[in-house]
Amino acid sequence: MSLLDWSKSLDIGVEAMNSEHKVLLAIMNKLYDRNEAKAERQELKGVLKELGDYTVKHFNDEEAFLLSIQFPDLEKHKLIHKSLLEKFGSHVADFTKSGVLEKSFFEFLKMWLSAHIQGIDMKYGEFAKTHK
Ligand SMILES: [Fe+2]
Ligand SMILES: [Fe+2]
Repeated sequence: MSLLDWSKSLDIGVEAMNSEHKVLLAIMNKLYDRNEAKAERQELKGVLKELGDYTVKHFNDEEAFLLSIQFPDLEKHKLIHKSLLEKFGSHVADFTKSGVLEKSFFEFLKMWLSAHIQGIDMKYGEFAKTHK
């Protein structure tokens, strides 16, 4: 079972960022799948860490890419990344206390994929097409 499968609607038109988004999606799906399978807390903790680490890497790579194409809304995009990381951190803190990944956590991940990638990242994808 997966949280969400890759589809054309997630394609932002920048190959390097698409491949990182695919990795992000794969880690999210792994977390969803292992949680559904009632995996041990230690294992879930490991996948959460993997997701957090990859997210930091992806946001850094994406911000560097936006700088390289002189994307005008880079500062705004950085703030949105910061706030996503803070929300992610607070969900991880909840998990650390309870040992349970709540439904709201997976709703947050879905929002991240739909609102951020399909909404916010898509904007620099459009920009990149015309500013190469
Ligand atoms: Fe982004
Ligand atoms: Fe992204």
